[in-house]
Amino acid sequence: MENTHNGQYQFGMIGLGTMGRNLLLNMADYGVAVAGYDKNADQISLLEKAGEGKKVKGFTDLGQLVQSLKAPRAVMMLVPAGPIVDSVIADLKPLLEKGDLIIDGGNSKFTDTERRAVELENIGLHFFGMGISGGEEGARRGPSMMPGGDKDAYQHVKPIFDKIAAKVNGEPCVTYIGPGASGHFVKMVHNGIEYAIMQLLAETYDLMKNGLQMNNEAIHTVFKDWNDGRLHSFLMEITRDIFAFKDPNTSQYLLDEIKDEAKSKGTGKWTSQFAMDLQSPTPAIDVAVSMRDLSKYKSLRVQLAEKYPNDKLGKLANDSAGYLTQLEEAFYFAMTVIYAQGMHLLYLASIEYKYELHLAEIAKIWRGGCIIRSKFLEDIYAAFNRNEELEHLFLDDNVKISIKANLNSARSIITGAMQQGFSVPVFSASLNYFDALRTGRMPTNLIQAQRDYFGAHTYELIGKEGVFHTKWNA
Ligand code: 6PG
Repeated sequence: MENTHNGQYQFGMIGLGTMGRNLLLNMADYGVAVAGYDKNADQISLLEKAGEGKKVKGFTDLGQLVQSLKAPRAVMMLVPAGPIVDSVIADLKPLLEKGDLIIDGGNSKFTDTERRAVELENIGLHFFGMGISGGEEGARRGPSMMPGGDKDAYQHVKPIFDKIAAKVNGEPCVTYIGPGASGHFVKMVHNGIEYAIMQLLAETYDLMKNGLQMNNEAIHTVFKDWNDGRLHSFLMEITRDIFAFKDPNTSQYLLDEIKDEAKSKGTGKWTSQFAMDLQSPTPAIDVAVSMRDLSKYKSLRVQLAEKYPNDKLGKLANDSAGYLTQLEEAFYFAMTVIYAQGMHLLYLASIEYKYELHLAEIAKIWRGGCIIRSKFLEDIYAAFNRNEELEHLFLDDNVKISIKANLNSARSIITGAMQQGFSVPVFSASLNYFDALRTGRMPTNLIQAQRDYFGAHTYELIGKEGVFHTKWNA
């Protein structure tokens, strides 16, 4: 055991892949003495080389890493979600002391985090599930971070996280989220929103490419204009750049060479699954998950494309400029709905799980560093700041103004696209959700009647207490 390092480092990291390494280097930039563990010696060399001249040290022995940390120890793991997290915790447990803090910075399922927190709390160890967003670049230059767990334990690491987080108007994009697994829950919903916006961008691309027959260069220009305006966001920005990127090997647009089958790691699916458990409607997110799944059936799609060719594909509009103006408004509308569904899910989860989430704070830390950062998050932040109890974003008067201004365009783009045989599921799910949610009396009375008819499931009556059953076919 190398005694020379004992108790010298303020923060430890397990897993020195790009994310883990970059987070440590980010901390080291601010003078934090950091130590990392990885069983792969090459990762240690990479870390120490990149951190030359700063207080950065790597270990291939977990015991040495733990020894090197100042008590109470703070050690984060950035390892793939799932059983590996449990096995790292099992390795760490005998090495740590009461009062030490373990942080899981990966995209763990929040129910796993809940279980681990209870297990560790029982033996006197603190545990944080912390969503980290922003990818490799974010980790190095400033991510958005969503830590959840024991509030007192957070005070110990807060100064470090405040330093390394992305900043918006000088304010760090990190805040204590709440107890238990709330940090991972919030990150999961972030990813659900991410899936829906990515699918919305893909649908928009389809309308431009196959509906207006625009080439990549022209699409790039439109996305650039949009990103320079109120649709400014990280996802819009990278999408703009993708349309201009040429494969250095072939000089062709790389995008055109990429297979149209989307992969996923599960966070979007979990958002929909848990939203359904909470009876929180998130149809735009749900359908975005389904579309990634549908894309995987390539050979089936090719067969069906031959069997049912779309003879209507072609010019969606004679006036492309006018169409694009409407499309921007439709995009703004659908984007508003997507964020609104995500925020509503957080609102409901906060009640159900007693997370006491501050939705304004969450919008605030999503304004920078993370994948779903956008100009619109300023409006969401303002809405929840005006009213911390706001049940739904649609209730905010400023949001109402923009919805009213964009609604006609959304309706015309969506119906026009569907008439021409374009698949625009996130656009249409957004509009359907809006139209249903602003319906005072839905046709769901019929569903209740049907349930009672075939299953004696009973129904309730307007203005009369109790539940009722009728023999409908008597
Ligand atoms: C982020 C991202 C990040 C990751 C997703 C991608 O916030 O930095 O969301 O967590 O890119 O896991 O998820 P899929 O592989 O499921 O698309």
